[in-house]
Amino acid sequence: MSGHGDPIPMMSSACGPLSGTAEVPGDKSISHRALILGAMCIGKTTIEGLLEGQDVLDTARAMRAFGAEVTDHGGGSWSIEGVGVGGFAEPQGVIDCGNSGTGVRLIMGAMATSPIVATFNGDASLNGRPMARVTDPLSAFGCRSVGRSGGRLPMTLVGASDPVPVRYVVPVPSAQVKSAVLLAGLNAPGQTVVIEAEATRDHTERMLAGFGAEITTEQTEEGRVITLTGQPELQAQHIEVPRDPSSAAFPVCAALIVPGSDVLVPGIGLNPTRAGLFTTLREMGADLTYENEREEGGEPVADLRARFSPDLRGIEVPPERAASMIDEYPVLSVVASYAQGQTVMRGVKELRVKESDRIDAMAVGLRANGIEVDEGPDWWTVTGLGHGNVPGGATCASHLDHRIAMSFLILGMAAQKPVSVDDGGPIATSFPIFEPLMQQLGAQVARNAT
Ligand code: S3P
Repeated sequence: MSGHGDPIPMMSSACGPLSGTAEVPGDKSISHRALILGAMCIGKTTIEGLLEGQDVLDTARAMRAFGAEVTDHGGGSWSIEGVGVGGFAEPQGVIDCGNSGTGVRLIMGAMATSPIVATFNGDASLNGRPMARVTDPLSAFGCRSVGRSGGRLPMTLVGASDPVPVRYVVPVPSAQVKSAVLLAGLNAPGQTVVIEAEATRDHTERMLAGFGAEITTEQTEEGRVITLTGQPELQAQHIEVPRDPSSAAFPVCAALIVPGSDVLVPGIGLNPTRAGLFTTLREMGADLTYENEREEGGEPVADLRARFSPDLRGIEVPPERAASMIDEYPVLSVVASYAQGQTVMRGVKELRVKESDRIDAMAVGLRANGIEVDEGPDWWTVTGLGHGNVPGGATCASHLDHRIAMSFLILGMAAQKPVSVDDGGPIATSFPIFEPLMQQLGAQVARNAT
């Protein structure tokens, strides 16, 4: 979907205690990968708990365009008849990845070593994001690409007809880049090696192993060295998608700042490469516990219990933790606004090239709501005012960014005056049930009357 319909202005205001159980949807990263890897096997992959957000639906449609048979059985239950590694057909039309950086970058990787041509497009947010970080390593496999200036979409990729394996040191901490290279490596003969200095989310590696690929990871002085043997025959799988920690962050953070709250968020994926926010919140004094810790589908999972935390304090977030909570800084900055003292976030340059420039989007909106924010190219600080002292009252721009929209709506749940966002439409990309789920916990959040 390129762009979405009319803007959906939304508002939240202070409410009584939040309570109950928040069943957040399936993990977005794992959902994309389940569809893409399912399309690259022979046989039928079945998926339970797929996130049915627009980003993932766009990836499902793309997999159909490349020749896989993708079926929605209802209620998060899906199946895919794959075409096998190297079996992608040439799509007849443009592949529209909507708002999704993960979708487009992973799909580019998956097709880059097949002798087909595909053109990719997205919405205004995605078409402003850098793609050279993916097309540069893909060119080493023999894939050619031409896009707009600055390596932006729309872009056409001509897959390599005679791919060679690649050894690539990822220059920025990015699971999307790492994954694109690994997916391309699937159809290259020999061993493709990816090296990352900082560990990023490792769902691709775990899932490739689950689908039967030969893949090893070794920690060396250079960083994590991932070696994949190309041209495997991937085996169709049954995948149970854990609930998304990045979506869980919103009800968890709301419970911490709304007086009297006690919320259970069950079945959350707690892969260590994703769980940095929860560690950080605990360091800030959050009453946040893990209950019923277990393993599901190869991923650690627990029920999160978050209670109102009156004594939150600002902290310095260790920069080496950034990759494990990269999508959670916007909502962390909201919790930091209700803490005493300053929260310092360093090593977060990547936040500037997400669905929006997330440092800028949050800084402008938080300041408008009475919070002091300071920022540099790869850092920012938020000076908290403590509970009961956040003025609120402003309308914030969501910049086609779901996490910016949801973060400001959480801010309004404990502020002195309501907080509005100009457009809550993008929330549907990752957390389509955000509004009813938060309302059911007791939050005052709604679309503005037209
Ligand atoms: C994702 C990786 C991260 C993250 C994004 C999902 C993934 O992006 O921000 O929401 O599923 O691989 P980068 O790899 O660009 O950091």
